[in-house]
Formats: sequence, structure tokens, C-alpha cells
Amino acid sequence: MNNTRIPLLLLSPMAGFTDASFRLMCLKGGADYCISEMISAKALVYKDKKTADLAFLPVGDKPTAIQLFGHEPDTMAAAAEMIERGSFLGCRYEERPVAIDINMGCPVKKISLSGDGSALMKDPELCKRIVFAMKSRVDLPVTVKIRAGWDKKSKNAVEVALACVEGGADGIAVHARTREELYNPGIDMDIIARVRDAVPSHIPVIGNGDIKDGESAERMLKETGCDGIMIGREALGNPWIFKEIKATLCKESYTSPTPEERIAAAISLVSAVVAMKGEDKGIREARGRSAHFIRGLRGSAEIRAKLNSTTSLDEFKAILTNWDRNE
Ligand SMILES: Cc1cc2nc3c(=O)[nH]c(=O)nc-3n(C[C@H](O)[C@H](O)[C@H](O)COP(=O)(O)O)c2cc1C
Repeated sequence: MNNTRIPLLLLSPMAGFTDASFRLMCLKGGADYCISEMISAKALVYKDKKTADLAFLPVGDKPTAIQLFGHEPDTMAAAAEMIERGSFLGCRYEERPVAIDINMGCPVKKISLSGDGSALMKDPELCKRIVFAMKSRVDLPVTVKIRAGWDKKSKNAVEVALACVEGGADGIAVHARTREELYNPGIDMDIIARVRDAVPSHIPVIGNGDIKDGESAERMLKETGCDGIMIGREALGNPWIFKEIKATLCKESYTSPTPEERIAAAISLVSAVVAMKGEDKGIREARGRSAHFIRGLRGSAEIRAKLNSTTSLDEFKAILTNWDRNE
């Protein structure tokens, strides 16, 4: 085990969102650590070409961990080894990943019905075997991201966390909802506190769920004793949230981005995605994502509609640049 310390404010892994271009924005916005979108261990081992793109880490994309999903210890370990060595087909590492994270929380049926993601929480012994298999094959830290449990009758986050620690896990992130709850209702802070109490103090426990601003971040740190916070949905149109939270924690002032800065960020995200994935794919993929940045601005609904029928980057930029917000 090495001594890598997981820092305080992390960007949550989000499939379809936390690609390299968005991670770079969040790192600029004050994130201490990012996690990639989830990547199929099996697809990596079977040398699927598209999977390599998900694992791309460009210059400046650090510290970033790669998240894997799967349920077979040998496959997970083989994929971890390929990531550590950078030996998978189409590998384009400009930065090295700093850890490998295991997805034990994804609630999506296609994933959990295959025994992956949140389904792992039904079998703490298997969780331990997966972590152990990966730790036996790589030197990189191995972390896990779990939920409160499968459903309200089996809130076994503590048991799963301890099993992972026995397997050698170097960090535990807890999304404080069960699989059954998906993303509603509100989170159960107590489950994070109980994991923090149960796990040896040198292993960082990261709290996750519904952090929207400095105040909610401060409350989570205080009420759970967790070592760090992971932010997901709020960061989607607000990659500056990490600076905002740091300012609150340090009792410093914080100035929110202006509408112009938000519009510039939307352009910058789409341009970066187009540069990485090509115009056709990039525009289709990123126009919905860029809409998060302009949410709430006057006239944003009409602008969104215009952006939705755009297929060229120049047109996309022109719509946003010529947006008369006094109309
Ligand atoms: C669109 C979307 C995609 C997600 N993809 C992943 C994923 O790939 N891996 C994962 O561990 N969690 C994933 N999550 C869960 C988030 O990482 C996070 O745990 C959850 O959104 C709660 O945090 P939040 O309230 O800050 O958003 C996803 C969530 C959303 C909304």
C-alpha cells in the first residue's frame, strides 16, 4: 500500500459527462482530484476500441483516477494491470492515472443485472475478492465507490466498506443513498458517519450526495467526519463549485462567475469535446452538456433550442456569442 492521500474535494465519476475536457475544467475550478467515467473492465480486456477513448488522460488531467466496473476478480485485476501499464489498445495517456476506482454503486439495470455496479453490494465477500485481486496485480492505489446499500432492508455500507478494506482498499467513497433510492430522496448522512467510524482512520472516507454549495459541503464534513467530499451533478454547469466550497471552508469571499464567464465556459467545453472527438460526435454529445452552463440565464430556453439544431462548431459559437440577453 502506498501513502497517496486523497485530497478534500473530488469530482464524482459521471458516465457521459466527466470526460477529459470536463475534468480539465473542474481541475481549473479547484477540484483536487477527478475520477473518470466508468469503464468496462471486460471491454478493456477484450480490447474494445471505444473504451480506450474513455480512458484518455491529456496533459494537465491530474490527479485523475480511472473507474472500472465489472464483477469478475480476474477480469478486474487484468484491466487494472492494463491501465497501470498503459498497455491497452489505443491507450493515449499523456498523464498517468493516480488510482483505480471500483464502481460499486451504479444503479442502472443493464449494469446491475449483469452483477456489476450496485449489485456488488449484495455480496461483500466478492467485493473483498475483487479489491484483493486488483491490489495483488497493481501498485496504484485501489479505491471503491459504494452506496448506502442495495435497499432499505440491506443498508450494509459499513459491512461492504470493511470487506473492501480487508481486501486492501486505499479509500472509500460513499454515495449516501441505496440502489433502490437512485437519486431521491435526500441523502442519509448517518451512513457516511458510520462508515467513517468503522474504517481505520488512515483510510480516507469520502462523502457524496447532494452537495450544492459551501454550506452543504460544510454540513457534510461536520456531521459525518468524512475526509473529503465528492461532487457530481452540481458541478455539471458549475465547475467553479470547488473554489466556492474552499472559500466557504476557509471563510473567504467568493464571487460567482458572471453570465459572460458561464457562456464562455459553454463554448470552451464544446470546443474541447469537438477537438477530442470530432465535430459531428462532439457537437451531438456536448450541446446538452453545455446547456448546464447557461441554465437560469434569461432567454436560455430559446438558445438551447437553437443549439439543439446546430451541427457545426462555428454556428454553435455564433449562437452563444451573439446572444442578446437584454431582449
Ligand atoms: C449522469 C450521471 C452519471 C453517473 N455515472 C456514474 C459513474 O460512471 N460511476 C459512478 O460511480 N457513479 C456515477 N454516477 C453517480 C455520481 O457519481 C454521484 O454518486 C451521484 O450523482 C450523487 O452525487 P451528487 O448528488 O453530487 O450528484 C452518475 C450520476 C449521474 C447523475
